[in-house]
This record gives sequence, structure tokens and C-alpha cells, in this order.
Amino acid sequence: MAIKILGTGSYLPSKVITNDNLASALDTSDEWIFSHTGIHSRHVAEDGETTSTMAAKAAKEAMAASGVQPGEIGLVVVATSTPDFCTFPSTACIVQGMLGCEGAGAFDLQAACAGFVYALDMARGYVATHPGKKALVIGAECLSRILDWTDRACCILFGDGAGAVVVGADGEATPTARVVLGADGRGSHFIERSGGTKDALVLDPKTGIPARPDPRLPVMTLQGHDVFAFAVRVLARTAQELCDMGGEAVADIDRVFAHQANGRIIEAVARRMKLPLEKFFLNLDTTANTSAASIPISLDEAVRKGELRDGMKILMIGFGAGLTYGGVRCDWPTL
Ligand SMILES: CC(C)(COP(=O)(O)OP(=O)(O)OC[C@H]1O[C@@H](n2cnc3c(N)ncnc32)[C@H](O)[C@@H]1OP(=O)(O)O)[C@@H](O)C(=O)NCCC(=O)NCCS
Repeated sequence: MAIKILGTGSYLPSKVITNDNLASALDTSDEWIFSHTGIHSRHVAEDGETTSTMAAKAAKEAMAASGVQPGEIGLVVVATSTPDFCTFPSTACIVQGMLGCEGAGAFDLQAACAGFVYALDMARGYVATHPGKKALVIGAECLSRILDWTDRACCILFGDGAGAVVVGADGEATPTARVVLGADGRGSHFIERSGGTKDALVLDPKTGIPARPDPRLPVMTLQGHDVFAFAVRVLARTAQELCDMGGEAVADIDRVFAHQANGRIIEAVARRMKLPLEKFFLNLDTTANTSAASIPISLDEAVRKGELRDGMKILMIGFGAGLTYGGVRCDWPTL
């Protein structure tokens, strides 16, 4: 039995921040940002928009595209590093309630920007073992809320948004997916978000018992150079491994959906893979890096533009904080 992506959806907030907008507040320029990243602008959630509201909008689109009703969904997985709450209730539970997927299991999965690839593999396993049930896999991020907007080497890179797919079984089709999931925890300090239990406990000097929680907002810190080198190495290696697993040549891949972190990373990966850049889907000029949302947003955009045809040999490859990485090679839309 094969598992299929039955439909896709995405959501990007209407508010857009351009590089010029950033240059009016920071010592930077459109020229620097675009030449170093390939990014011109990013979407940013407005007041009232959160990871769950964006996730639910993307999910509704994916359910409409697949013709699946809320009652058919047995599992809701939200890949995110920016949950509505830190950390419970999970964003997936909130989304499950919003969508009316009564009784469906729901959990958040945190594998940073590789989260969608991890979640897709979890959903594959769920659908295979729960006959008749479908899974909703969502990548959603509200990164604007955890950025230090004075840190020009970091805040320029990211944007908000959500992408979703509905995954279900197809008894007729033959499975096509090959999957790699990996991590290298030795680089865990390269990208960090504060606000967890590693932060020092503040004791009240008089009573010796913990004082109220530190009210500082969590922020992201990034060692860009180290992450860049890791990303190029691991994306090219994962792509090669996925091709080797099926005994196929890299040149036979039709379309690559690489995590949209930096255009220069994607160019370097294309060079290493000896694959024309035209085979790589690119939208980061207007989305920037939306972390776990980037691959499903790209998939949905490609579907809506009619760029993805049945049977195309596609690669999804991602990397992120952790450091994590992962990839899926499949014949669209069969997993
Ligand atoms: C962040 C990144 C764009 C920086 O590009 P870079 O070419 O490595 O630039 P550097 O960090 O070496 O900085 C070069 C100079 O530009 C400056 N600079 C950094 N950000 C700048 C900005 N937005 N505008 C202008 N100058 C900037 C630095 O201060 C530095 O100045 P100095 O030489 O006087 O010290 C790049 O390293 C990157 O994209 N890394 C990957 C990050 C990533 O993808 N993270 C998410 C993973 S999911």
C-alpha cells in the first residue's frame, strides 16, 4: 500500500516587510541583504495572527484541495519552533479544535527547519497503521515574535507563514518514498532560542525559593557562518544518499524543494549536486526563511502554479537548528 499527498495548502500574512523597510531602522541595505541571501522581502504576522491561526488557514486549504472532511482526519501534526504557547497546549491541539477534527490525535514536532520532513515521515507511519485515517501535516512559524529586530545578521533572514498537506492511503499505488532523517547535536549551539529550562532559575535572595519567571522574551541567536557550511554539506549529502538508496542518478531528479534559508546555500548545493539551479524551486525572495513552513509553502505554490505533475521525481531536503536534517525522495504525489 502506498501513501499519498492528497492536497496542499499555504498561508502567508498580508503584512510585508521589505529590505528597504529594515534599512530604515538598521545599519543594512537591500543590496547587502539581497546579495548575501537572495531575499527581498518577508511576510510578518500582524496582531492577532499566531502560529495556530496561520496553520489552520493553510490546513483548511489543504483539506479543501484534497476533498477531505474534518472527521476523516485522525492525526494533526504541527512542525514548529514557534508554538503559540511555550510549550503547552500544543499548537496542534489548538489547530485540531479550530478545524473541528474531533478526536484526532494532535502533537507538535520540533525539528526546527527540518520539521516538515520529519513530520511527513511520522504521518506516513501513522496512515500505514491506521486504516481509513488521514493525517494533516502542517509546518507553521511565527518567527517574527522570537527575533531580535536589532540583530542585523539574524532578523533579515526570517519570515512568517504556514504550509500544509493532507496525507492518506492509496491501496492501488506502489510506494515510492525514500527517507533520510538525521541530526548532529554537536552543533546544537549554532542556532538557539532562549526561554527554556536552560535559562538560570532566579532565586529570591530573601526566601531562597524561586522568584517569578524571568519576563524577558525568548530570542533567537545564530552563528551564520557555521550554519551555512553545515547546510551546504548536509543538503548535498542527503540528496546523494536518497538517490543512492534507489540506485538512481542525481541528474534524473526533476524538481528539488530545498529549505528556503539562503539563495547562496541553494546555489552551492546545486553546484555540489551538479544539478542546474533551474531544477530548484525558489521563492525565498518574497518569503525569506519560514523554517518548518518553507517546504510545504513551496510545494503548495508549485502545485498552484501547475509546476508539479504526477510522477515527477521530487526531492524535499531540509536542515535546521539542532542541528537537524532530512530528506524525502518520491514520485509526486505518492510517498
Ligand atoms: C547570516 C549570513 C547571511 C551572513 O552572511 P556572511 O556572508 O556569512 O556574512 P558575515 O557573517 O561573514 O558578515 C560579513 C560582514 O557583514 C556584516 N553584516 C551582517 N549582517 C549584515 C546586514 N544585514 N547588513 C549589512 N552588513 C551585515 C557583518 O557584521 C560583517 O561585518 P564585518 O566584516 O565588519 O564584521 C550567512 O552566514 C547565512 O545565511 N548563514 C546561514 C544562516 C541560516 O540559514 N540560518 C537558518 C538555518 S535554518
